[in-house]
Amino acid sequence: MDKFTFSYPVKVYFGEGSARQAFDAELDKVGKTVMLAFGGGSIKENGIYDEMKELLAQAGKKVVDFSGIMPNPTYAKVQEGAALARESEVDFILAVGGGSVIDCCKVISAQALLSEDIWDMEYGKGKFPTKGIPMGAVVTASGTGAEMNAGAVITYEEKKWKGPIFGTAASFAVLDPFYTMSVPPMQVLSGAFDTLSHAMETYLGSSDEDNVSDDVALAIMRNTVINTRRLLKNINDVQARSNLMWDSAMAENGILKCGRLTDFQVHQIEHQLGAYTDCNHGQGLSVIHPAYYRHIVKDAPEKFTRLAKVVFDVDTAEEGVDALARFIKECGLPTKMNQLKSAVEITPEVLRQVADTCNIIKCGPRELDREEIYEILMKCL
Ligand code: NZQ
Ligand code: ZN
Repeated sequence: MDKFTFSYPVKVYFGEGSARQAFDAELDKVGKTVMLAFGGGSIKENGIYDEMKELLAQAGKKVVDFSGIMPNPTYAKVQEGAALARESEVDFILAVGGGSVIDCCKVISAQALLSEDIWDMEYGKGKFPTKGIPMGAVVTASGTGAEMNAGAVITYEEKKWKGPIFGTAASFAVLDPFYTMSVPPMQVLSGAFDTLSHAMETYLGSSDEDNVSDDVALAIMRNTVINTRRLLKNINDVQARSNLMWDSAMAENGILKCGRLTDFQVHQIEHQLGAYTDCNHGQGLSVIHPAYYRHIVKDAPEKFTRLAKVVFDVDTAEEGVDALARFIKECGLPTKMNQLKSAVEITPEVLRQVADTCNIIKCGPRELDREEIYEILMKCL
């Protein structure tokens, strides 16, 4: 184990009806004006919006709506939200949605209290926000684990860049599996694959053995695969959705990262693919993962073998990668670039740009060069 400091800022309310329990306990601590932030309208169709309005009214809050946060939230949307938060003198932000809404709100929270542009501050000066408008997160689609940390993933369209911006962590998160029941099946599976990816990418970062973070990561991978398979039999299996919701949170709450380096190279590539194509995050990962692992499997044979045995019940490192590829097919997730819903045609030129602009991770099984990344991407075409 390497040196680490661990503290956990988010109070979790898990289970059916936990929004009421959370609001009763938490909303007295915050001011009167609440920004209710959400996405493209799913919460209006499934009743969650009305429920939030009612609970906020019962808590005596004045509500300012901020709607239309898109999947792969943009920097412009962050600025729009921060301006509204300032104008309306918002005391508290309630993010109600999946990773996109929650991420957008984390950065709105920090940007609203800053006099400078947060991207310039973080990327130009290497400084990070120390305060933000307090916020809570109500998770309606699980997978990213975005509710459990202060890091957001934002698309800066003008810069053709998608990457991390640090904002504010929610002080509490509501994880009610019943809220996820209206998520379209393909999004449910994409989210579950994102969770699997987080655990795999964390696990493959360090080479030290017998560390507990690895054991927990493997348990999360195995549990995610088991419960995803339950959903393939019955997409409305609420127990499986509930198990996956906690897998998702566990994978990104920092516990797996204690005392170790992480890989996250597939995420870096996928984020830039997202910057160019606006593709779905979990689905971009499902396309890239097998090709990346085939490329580096020989650089971490012991770790891949263990993953193969524990998660997929096969014997060798290579068989484990094949089993992962089969699992992706079994889920009906995209396996090739042309199966992704994309804003542009995904050509070798687009992939060249992705390879040339993505972050390169220095740890993990091995540091890649840009030619190798291009080669991996071309195998996915
Ligand atoms: O916008 P609405 O209408 O709400 O519809 C959303 C959206 O179309 C829909 N949805 C959400 N809850 C629903 C629902 N539809 C019906 N019923 C419900 N209960 O689902 C669609 C996708 O939502 P989105 O939030 O975009 O999905 P996800 O949770 O996968 O988030 C993806 C974003 O998170 C980032 C990704 O890069 C991407 O931008 N990530 C954030 C991470 C973090 N902060 O820790 C880590 C991840 O690796 C990831 O990069
Ligand atoms: Zn992810």
